[in-house]
Amino acid sequence: MDNTISKIWVDKYRPQTFDEIIGQNYFVTRVKAFIDSKNLPHLLFAGAPGTGKTTTALVVARELFGEHGMKGNYLELNASDDRGIDVIRNQIKEFAKLKSLTDIPYKIICLDEADSLTKDAQQALRRTMEKYSSSCRFILACNEISKIMDPIQSRCVIFKFKPLGEEALSELIDRIANGEGLKVDADAKESLILASRGDVRKLTNILQATSAIEKVITTKLIDEILDSVNPKEVEKMINAAKEGDFFKARDYLIALKSIKGFSGLEILKEMYRILIRDESIEPKTKIKLVDKIATIEFRIVEGSDEELQLESFLATLSLVK
Ligand SMILES: Nc1ncnc2c1ncn2[C@@H]1O[C@H](COP(=O)(O)OP(=O)(O)O)[C@@H](O)[C@H]1O
Ligand SMILES: [Mg+2]
Repeated sequence: MDNTISKIWVDKYRPQTFDEIIGQNYFVTRVKAFIDSKNLPHLLFAGAPGTGKTTTALVVARELFGEHGMKGNYLELNASDDRGIDVIRNQIKEFAKLKSLTDIPYKIICLDEADSLTKDAQQALRRTMEKYSSSCRFILACNEISKIMDPIQSRCVIFKFKPLGEEALSELIDRIANGEGLKVDADAKESLILASRGDVRKLTNILQATSAIEKVITTKLIDEILDSVNPKEVEKMINAAKEGDFFKARDYLIALKSIKGFSGLEILKEMYRILIRDESIEPKTKIKLVDKIATIEFRIVEGSDEELQLESFLATLSLVK
C-alpha cells in the first residue's frame, strides 16, 4: 500500500543527502570537509525559516552515523520549548551519558531556535556546551544571529543560510511536481516563487494545499489558498506605477484593500520586499524609495489615512525614471 499519500510533503521531500540540498553549495562543500576529516566543530546555522538549517543538521548526522546510527547519537531539541533551559540541560545530560556505539567519538545535539533563549539561558547553554564538548557536538540553529551571545558565536563555525533564489526554488517546484504528477504552469510557478520568498517550507506547503484541490496548479488556485497579501497583485500594482500608469496602480491598490481586505501595512511590507529585490531600479533610487516606505509606514502607524499614504507612494513610484 502506498502510505505516502497523506505524508506531509515537507517531510517527504526533505533532502536525505548533501546532493539533494539545493542552492546552498557553498556550505555543503565546507560542511562535507569537516565530515570527511571526522573532526566536526560546533556549528551555528543562522538564517530565515525554510532555508535548510534543520535539514542540513540531519544530513550531517546521517552522513556521520549512518541511518541506523541516528537513533541514540542525534538529538533534536527546541530551545523555544517553554519548559526552559533546565529541561534542555537535563535532556542533554541524559543523552550525553550513554556511550556512543559508533566509531564516531561524539554525538550530535541540534538545538533549534537558539535565539529564543534569554541571556541567562544562553550562559547556561554555553557552560553546557563546554561541559560536554568532548562527547557532544552542538549544531545551533537560529533566525537572528545577533541574538546569540558572542561567547557562543565564537565557539562555533558559523554558516549563514540565505533564502533560496529563483532558480533553486524553480528546481524544487519541478522536483515536487514530478514526484506528485502535478502540472505547474509558468505563471503559477512565478506566483509560488514570489509567495514563498525563498522559504522552501512555505513553498512546499502552499503547493501541497493547492494540489489537494487540483493537480493542475494555476495562479488563481494559489491565490485562493493564500490568505496573506497576494504578492502577485502587489507586483502588478508596482509594475503599473513603474510604467507611469498611476491610475491603474491605484485600481490595484483599491482591489487589494477593499476586495481582498489587506491592510495598508501588509501591502506596504509586500511592496518593500518586491522593490528591494527589483534589479531594474538604480541603487540610489532604491534607497530613496525605501526611505519613503519607512516614512509612510511611520505615518500609517501614527494613524494617517492609509489609502492616501499608499497613493502618494504610488505617485512617487510612477514618477521614478
Ligand atoms: N536548500 C534546500 N534544498 C532542498 N530542500 C530544502 C532546502 N531548504 C529547505 N528545504 C526543505 O524545506 C523544508 C524546511 O527545511 P528546514 O531545513 O526544516 O528549514 P529551516 O530549519 O531552515 O527552517 C524541508 O522540507 C526541506 O526539505
Ligand atoms: Mg528548522
